[in-house]
Amino acid sequence: MIPISTWSEGYITDINYTTNFYFHQSPDFLNFCCLLYGYEPFDLNTTFNYCELGCGNGFTIILLASLYPHANFYAIDFNPDHIVFANSLKKYFNLDNIKFFNISFKETVDEKLEEFPEFNMITLHGVFSWVSHENRNRIIEFTRKKLKAGGILNVSYNNMCGWFMRIPFQRLIIDFAKLFPEIISAKKVEIVINLIRKMQQAGSEYFNSPAIKKTLGKMDEMSINYIVHEYLNEDWQPLFFSEVCSYMHNAKLKYLGMADPIWYFNDLLFNDNQLKVLNEFRSMYMREIAKDYILRLAFRKDIYIKGGVMLPRDIYYKKMFNKVKFVLNKPIEDDKMYKIDLDYTKRRANINRGILNKLFEELTLPKTIEELMECSILNSIKDKELLRIISMLIHKNIVTPIISNVDINDNKKNSKIGKIINRFIAKDARYRNELKHFLIPKFKTAMNVNIIKRLVYDAIINEEKDDINDILLHVKLFLKNRSINWKAFDENKSKDEILNKEISECIEKFFPFWEKVGAL
Ligand SMILES: C[S@@+](CC[C@H](N)C(=O)[O-])C[C@H]1O[C@@H](n2cnc3c(N)ncnc32)[C@H](O)[C@@H]1O
Repeated sequence: MIPISTWSEGYITDINYTTNFYFHQSPDFLNFCCLLYGYEPFDLNTTFNYCELGCGNGFTIILLASLYPHANFYAIDFNPDHIVFANSLKKYFNLDNIKFFNISFKETVDEKLEEFPEFNMITLHGVFSWVSHENRNRIIEFTRKKLKAGGILNVSYNNMCGWFMRIPFQRLIIDFAKLFPEIISAKKVEIVINLIRKMQQAGSEYFNSPAIKKTLGKMDEMSINYIVHEYLNEDWQPLFFSEVCSYMHNAKLKYLGMADPIWYFNDLLFNDNQLKVLNEFRSMYMREIAKDYILRLAFRKDIYIKGGVMLPRDIYYKKMFNKVKFVLNKPIEDDKMYKIDLDYTKRRANINRGILNKLFEELTLPKTIEELMECSILNSIKDKELLRIISMLIHKNIVTPIISNVDINDNKKNSKIGKIINRFIAKDARYRNELKHFLIPKFKTAMNVNIIKRLVYDAIINEEKDDINDILLHVKLFLKNRSINWKAFDENKSKDEILNKEISECIEKFFPFWEKVGAL
């Protein structure tokens, strides 16, 4: 019999959450979004305080702390496994501007409030709809007391409009899983999903409905850690936008917009008829609620502000077009980006190839919209249209907005931390596939790097191999006997073809890029 933990309040703790870097939690990104919605963000170049609630393994906040050494970072999670992991990274990366707290939200507000300063920014990703109403209220109490006036909150949650069909699905997993108390969560979910598949094959109206069939189909590709945390938590509860707004009002927060710049451009996401209906709604809240129903939105990552003042139009324009810089955050690998999948909607946007190629050429270094408008081809469109195109590239995480002052010529300062972190992450790839992002210090972000490229980095930088055959041997050695989804690289190529392509691409395109951005 597995001992039931008394501290976890129905939250799964026998399997850790997946490790990831979420760029939408970054101060530069969130400040850019605030500006887009017309509000003055706080100054990122002076000391600021940042807090993450339910930080999981802490990878996002660790990378953020390394990118903003002049700021103070605080992170809370009640799972000791997560905090031990996060603290080990903190120690290895020698970071002294981040503190991890292994406490629950209840302990945070009941006992530890005085240990926290006032924050300019609080973020919580994948937490608000995974915990109980009581814990949501504790998060609100913490925010009410600890978010500075003018501060920003970023909260993500499962949205009822996109999840309502799957509520019985989740309930069944929980109900069935309770019948196997002696089994670990990962195994429970596996058994229950097999039972569900049997019901589907035997003929079940519910499990054969299109939405549920799709959900079941996708489960093969999902990590078991993600499935367990998404479906096996007692308090999991998709929320309505209006409900979340009510919680936030109790912390004196007002809604600004989604932490995704394409959300600002309604004409990208909605057709003419939908826009007409939306425009009939006078209140912004009504429009936001309606958007969830039109798109049947399943996930929201929203930004709230505590008492911000809207910028006058002229200052807004000056800041947005003159101050914010944009830059490509990865080497461009192919030309699939002309058609942008907008994700929330079935619509796809086509970007003019001439404009896109010119942008790719210009954005290898950070540039403002005003600087871009001085270039040929780009000067043929309006500044707002340029911002709209760039917003789509930000949505796809191809371009990063930068508001902080970055000195891309300061190689010493930028690359020291990049060296430490990326060398560690590359070496880590030998035995795990957990840390998947390299730090991009000069652009204040991190990039997802596949396991083959991380091992190439490991061979060349950590092991100082320069012969292509030695590099190939190194990669093969550490990929041996590991379950790699080769199809995700290229369905039509053999393993060897994939390895050779990845290695040469890494050497020809990625190494020069990493060199330039302080990642080597
Ligand atoms: C779905 S995970 C998200 C983790 C992380 N934010 C991420 O996206 O990678 C939710 C996290 O909240 C933490 N958590 C859940 N309930 C909590 C509570 N009552 N107090 C503190 N942390 C809690 C869990 O341990 C878990 O790490």
